[in-house]
Amino acid sequence: MALKITSKKFGVLPSGEEIDLFTLCLDRKIEISVMNYGATLTHLFIPDRDGNMEDVVLGFDTLEGYLQKDYLDNYCYLGSTIGRVAGRCTDNQFILDNKTIQLPANQGKVHLHGGKEGWDKKIWVSEPFETENSVGVTFYYQSQDGEENYPGTIEIWVTYTLDETGKLEINYKAISDKKTIINPTNHSYFNLNGDFSKDIEGHMFMVDADHFLPMNENSLPTGEIIHVAGTPFDFRKSTLIKEKIQEDNPQIKLAGGIDHCFVINQEENCAVLYDPVSGRKLTLTTTEPGIQVYTSNYLNKSFKGKGGIAYGKRAAICLETQHFPDSCTHKNFPTIILLPAEVFNSRTIFEFSVG
Ligand code: BGC
Repeated sequence: MALKITSKKFGVLPSGEEIDLFTLCLDRKIEISVMNYGATLTHLFIPDRDGNMEDVVLGFDTLEGYLQKDYLDNYCYLGSTIGRVAGRCTDNQFILDNKTIQLPANQGKVHLHGGKEGWDKKIWVSEPFETENSVGVTFYYQSQDGEENYPGTIEIWVTYTLDETGKLEINYKAISDKKTIINPTNHSYFNLNGDFSKDIEGHMFMVDADHFLPMNENSLPTGEIIHVAGTPFDFRKSTLIKEKIQEDNPQIKLAGGIDHCFVINQEENCAVLYDPVSGRKLTLTTTEPGIQVYTSNYLNKSFKGKGGIAYGKRAAICLETQHFPDSCTHKNFPTIILLPAEVFNSRTIFEFSVG
């Protein structure tokens, strides 16, 4: 079979622990690497319309890249698994059963993407697997009761699976021993051009979303769910990103681009990213109700990534499939509460093609 999984040592953490890199490969179609530090997606090679395989996700060539000071000082979760809760939370707190839980700030005064040491900085237990028609790795982590002040011990399994058709699936399964909240996602930065010194403004984007969530000056959803018609957030037809991002609009100005959650209409093929130059196309399917779309507004060439390239504003686009940010504040958003008797499950499928 043309499907293959290999592994190698990726590097050693300052604590002395070894980190492994697993590579899932389908001959000439796709090659994905993931590491057990942060259950992170590090590389994703796909062909352009001439068959040239190039990497389309931002990251680093070595583990040291992920640990370098310049990156940690300007940290932006390249390819990471985010948890327990993606995004921000009003006043860094939430109320569960009449108890207010205060979350530690990790980005200035803000609690973002799980806190000071979120799931992106944990060492996960890896279990590579092969089946008749797929290869993959399950990463497992036990998040203790009280970690980053969140209640309940959560057991979480993040599985990357590559199937014989070249589809990549990221699957999240979690259980908790206490009532808690959970909203994980993957924070990959896509640039289908394969040249990370170029930006993604020339990419076309479609998201099947009639509504989006406007945000306030603290990058938090206001709680309103607004129709996209007549706004730069109308990507219901495939549109050049540049066209929308340059519109004179207060929401675009506030975020310095797009950094908003889209409320998707349905699961299948709910978003398509296309690069007319290379012909590479990414199609998303997800069981999640939202996609946080982030056009790398805050990247500012402050650290060097793969091949020594410094990643600048708009070097990539994140398509973070998740429940809506700040869902514990806004009762009109789908709940992110996980009860002890429940199993949390979330699936996102990434399909690559050329057009
Ligand atoms: C958030 C941005 C944040 C970025 C990097 C995105 O998910 O929406 O506001 O700057 O992650 O941390």
